[in-house]
Amino acid sequence: MALNLVKLSTLSLVALLPWVSLQLTAAQLPANRADSGGDLQLAGPELAKNAGQTPPMGWNSWNAFKSDISARLIEEIADAAKRYKLDEAGYKFLVIDDGWQLRELRANGEMVANPEIFPHGIAPVAQYVRQRGFELGIYSSPNTLTCAGFAGSLGHEGVHVRQFADWGCRFVKYDYCPVRNDEPGLPSDDIIGRYRALGDAIKTHAPGMLFSICDKGWAGRINKRQRSMNASAITSQQRRQAFAWCREVGGVMWRTTGDIKPTWQRIMEILDEQEGLAPLAGPNAFNDPDMLEVGNGNLTEAENRAHFSLWCVLNAPLMLGNDLRKIPEGVLKIITNKEVIALNQDLLCRQAVRVTDANGIQVFAKPLANGDVGVCVLNRANTNQAATVAWDKLGLEKGTTWRVRDLWAHQDLGAFTNQITTTVSSHDVVTYRMSRVTKK
Ligand code: GLA
Repeated sequence: MALNLVKLSTLSLVALLPWVSLQLTAAQLPANRADSGGDLQLAGPELAKNAGQTPPMGWNSWNAFKSDISARLIEEIADAAKRYKLDEAGYKFLVIDDGWQLRELRANGEMVANPEIFPHGIAPVAQYVRQRGFELGIYSSPNTLTCAGFAGSLGHEGVHVRQFADWGCRFVKYDYCPVRNDEPGLPSDDIIGRYRALGDAIKTHAPGMLFSICDKGWAGRINKRQRSMNASAITSQQRRQAFAWCREVGGVMWRTTGDIKPTWQRIMEILDEQEGLAPLAGPNAFNDPDMLEVGNGNLTEAENRAHFSLWCVLNAPLMLGNDLRKIPEGVLKIITNKEVIALNQDLLCRQAVRVTDANGIQVFAKPLANGDVGVCVLNRANTNQAATVAWDKLGLEKGTTWRVRDLWAHQDLGAFTNQITTTVSSHDVVTYRMSRVTKK
């Protein structure tokens, strides 16, 4: 059996990658890329390159504030993010979503920040945010108007990317809004072409800018408004095809669904819509099931924990969507759980797949760079339930012993052979890191 010795000087991580013995079968846990084929055998330096290419983390204004935003708000958010040490947990981008700009462009095509809410423009806000250890992100659309009816970038991509870069923005969310612009039947190639135009402008004028694609399935014709069938009728392959172009045009993350809401039902619907997308994910390439709703609406503590854990193992970008200025203790504990975030930020950059699904208990598993496995056991039922995580379902070798750590209890549970049984509360998760006990 071939073993790869991985040496990562920065993380002083020395790990064995026993992919053969790990036996997460190709069918269950696909390789990073649709085109990479076969099992992943990463050499040390290649894995080291993935540092800095893990899922983007940050905050976005839309879920909590919609277009009710201002320079003052973003600065308060930056102060709060620093105060709560969100930078130390890994959060980096503070993204201003729709509503920061005027409805009209200047005669020369330039975008204008609304002077009533951003009186000194965007540049001082970017500077303020950077001084507190974060980077500013901004929003536009490949249409004349954004979804909330403000000016978009269609036909002015180069000018706008240069403006964003000059102001100091490091992230751009580009959100396709066909209904607002009365063009819901636009051919796929035209939609993709519009994203390519921004990707090319970024390459030319702002190569460090993170390109966040938000087409929500329009180009792939799987968007709710274009189809008569319900989401569950869409095959995994159709889903994959719908987003297969995103990476090639320069996207680092791409929204895979319509908008999230702070309800358990919507979070579960979005979870189901991730089925089959894992092969598209890899270093610097992430399926985006939308910004987090942790701390919003009436989600319970269990639901917040489940939502966060699932997004972590799905390799989702972790974009907080709550009001950071006052974070309840329980919510702060969830969004700063470093052990769970470590599953998300793992250098292998593999997205979890669902390996079992019975009676409302679903098990998701994610292979990790050092040979460990991340496991998230979800209970969708309205009652607490017993759940068994069986090695054979994970594709792990029969008879092997694995140490199991509970990442919410922050507790080592001991060593287990072939399976582990637990109880999962209603609408909650149990999240594990499993490490193989080396054979004597
Ligand atoms: C769409 C996007 C949201 C948000 C709004 C802004 O609905 O999906 O995430 O950006 O537009 O108008």
